[in-house]
Amino acid sequence: MTRAFRVLALFFGVLLTFVGPIIIDDQIVKNTVIDPNNEMSYNMWKDVPVPFYMSIYFFHILNPQEILKGEKPMVEQRGPYVYRKRIQKDNITFHPNNTVSYKEYRSYYFERSMSVGNESDVVTIPNMLVLGAAVMMENLPFAVRIMVSTTFKTFKEGAFLTKTVGELMWGYDSKLVDFLNKYLPGMLPSTGKFGLFAEFNNSDTGLFTIFTGKGNIRNIHKVNSWNGLTELSYWQTPQCNMINGTAGQMWPPFMTEESTLPFYSPDACRSLELVYQRPGEFKGVPLYRFVAPKTMFANGTDYAPNEGFCPCRQSGLLNVSTCRHNSPAFISHPHFFNADPVLLDYVQGLHPNEEEHGLFIDIHPQTGVPLNVSIRLQLNLYMKKVSGITETGKISEVVMPMIWFEESGYIDGPVLSTFYTNLVVLPAVMEYVQYGFIALGLVTIIIAAFVHYKVKVKLPSRSPSDLCYHVFFNCMSHHSACCPTNRCKTEQESLH
Ligand SMILES: *[C@@H]1O[C@H](CO)[C@@H](O)[C@H](O)[C@H]1NC(C)=O
Ligand SMILES: *[C@@H]1O[C@H](CO)[C@@H](O)[C@H](O)[C@H]1NC(C)=O
Ligand SMILES: *[C@@H]1O[C@H](CO)[C@@H](O)[C@H](O)[C@H]1NC(C)=O
Ligand SMILES: *[C@@H]1O[C@H](CO)[C@@H](O)[C@H](O)[C@H]1NC(C)=O
Ligand SMILES: *[C@@H]1O[C@H](CO)[C@@H](O)[C@H](O)[C@H]1NC(C)=O
Ligand SMILES: *[C@@H]1O[C@H](CO)[C@@H](O)[C@H](O)[C@H]1NC(C)=O
Ligand SMILES: *[C@@H]1O[C@H](CO)[C@@H](O)[C@H](O)[C@H]1NC(C)=O
Ligand SMILES: *[C@@H]1O[C@H](CO)[C@@H](O)[C@H](O)[C@H]1NC(C)=O
Repeated sequence: MTRAFRVLALFFGVLLTFVGPIIIDDQIVKNTVIDPNNEMSYNMWKDVPVPFYMSIYFFHILNPQEILKGEKPMVEQRGPYVYRKRIQKDNITFHPNNTVSYKEYRSYYFERSMSVGNESDVVTIPNMLVLGAAVMMENLPFAVRIMVSTTFKTFKEGAFLTKTVGELMWGYDSKLVDFLNKYLPGMLPSTGKFGLFAEFNNSDTGLFTIFTGKGNIRNIHKVNSWNGLTELSYWQTPQCNMINGTAGQMWPPFMTEESTLPFYSPDACRSLELVYQRPGEFKGVPLYRFVAPKTMFANGTDYAPNEGFCPCRQSGLLNVSTCRHNSPAFISHPHFFNADPVLLDYVQGLHPNEEEHGLFIDIHPQTGVPLNVSIRLQLNLYMKKVSGITETGKISEVVMPMIWFEESGYIDGPVLSTFYTNLVVLPAVMEYVQYGFIALGLVTIIIAAFVHYKVKVKLPSRSPSDLCYHVFFNCMSHHSACCPTNRCKTEQESLH
């Protein structure tokens, strides 16, 4: 072993200790920046390669007739009806100021094998057209309400709908909707069929302009504007109208336990923020789990910063009326999880628990890439008796769950392998290599010093026993002055 090699090994060891992490971080930065030259990550960003699923659960109404008489609604969960979701970014334009604009298109395909039942299953849910319109027209003159009620009767629209899952989801032909679109165009959100997700298939989520991360990696994926807006106008305070965070698919790298996951959701009409819960592991990849804070849908009384989302009801409900054509719609966690428990008293058949109804995003903290995601939300309709509109009977005031959905996905297959190799194995190997170099450098130096020392104190030419060598090695590394020069000799003699 030459002296040059020893010096070189130590040099590289020390160098790698300091430079290694910088190289890895630099590599992460280079690989994550949104840039068509970054072929792998750019294509991953453009056409999200992991299968995403939307699972729908209906709250089938068991006692529609009794509800009309003022009794408590009884519901039974039906589903899941699972749709594979294809996400694709299009109209991608890079701007000179390190931002990029795009539209994201989504399409859905029914997955019979993952569903409980098929799209021809029949369920009963509130008729949003009738019950929604009733609440919206509550303050109009009585004569108008009578007229509206007559119209409902003409078109045979009742308070509840019993239809197939496919029709409720993707739309059904309604004579009333056709009539309204013909004589009062622009009043309804849809021009064709009427359904809960009628406008979702092959639609886009608006024009997003986000930062590419070039120049400042902390900004990567942050939304600069949505449909040209840098803030919303749905809510009462500037704070609530802010468009915060990313578009909800990726986050900046280098996360800590203090990091949060802010994102803007066009479907929820607001920015949301998840908080760190715990560390974990996904197929060998370390992760941080982020979940919804309890305050996410709290009302302004319970959590002052949410005052701008009011007028509010009980905590756990978000009034999304202003961004749903003024219909009395509310978003919550499924089964009113983390909401005021009093909500469970108004509807029978709800059983909230974190395992089934909490939402989470598992992130690889070093890169900000989601590994396992489950976003779950519930859509509710505020309904009650409205005089003049006889369809509403004697319905008691209630925030009625209609459906809840889960959007979920996790990375797997070749995507996971590539990710694992480049961002988990490689950095680990680099780390071992750097410690290997240091250890090698130190060992060679110590052996050299030992040999040198041995010659100086004229130890017997026999090599010391393992035990003695061990003692010597330990004290050398602590304080050379404390080393009993004769101990090795004595021990060696006693051993013989
Ligand atoms: C987006 O692209 C489609 C075709 O790919 C085009 O018809 C449409 O006008 C584009 N929209 C915008 C806003 O650029
Ligand atoms: C960057 O440029 C785009 C297009 O010109 C513009 O819409 C956007 O507001 C700019 N963003 C910033 C942060 O300057
Ligand atoms: C959504 O649109 C695609 C393409 O037009 C179609 O193949 C698919 O069946 C549609 N999905 C649903 C659930 O209607
Ligand atoms: C759905 O299931 C029912 C029975 O469970 C069956 O009769 C029907 O043909 C199925 N429909 C489709 C479209 O597969
Ligand atoms: C947006 O971020 C700001 C600053 O972090 C915060 O004060 C505000 O409450 C956030 N708004 C929403 C809607 O999350
Ligand atoms: C806010 O929520 C709490 C708890 O759910 C409830 O007691 C209170 O009445 C609510 N405030 C308003 C203004 O609705
Ligand atoms: C929801 O908000 C809208 C507008 O902000 C308000 O007019 C309506 O009364 C609220 N709904 C309920 C049930 O509180
Ligand atoms: C994703 O997380 C959920 C909830 O912790 C877990 O049940 C599931 O097994 C995870 N997915 C995979 C593929 O590990």
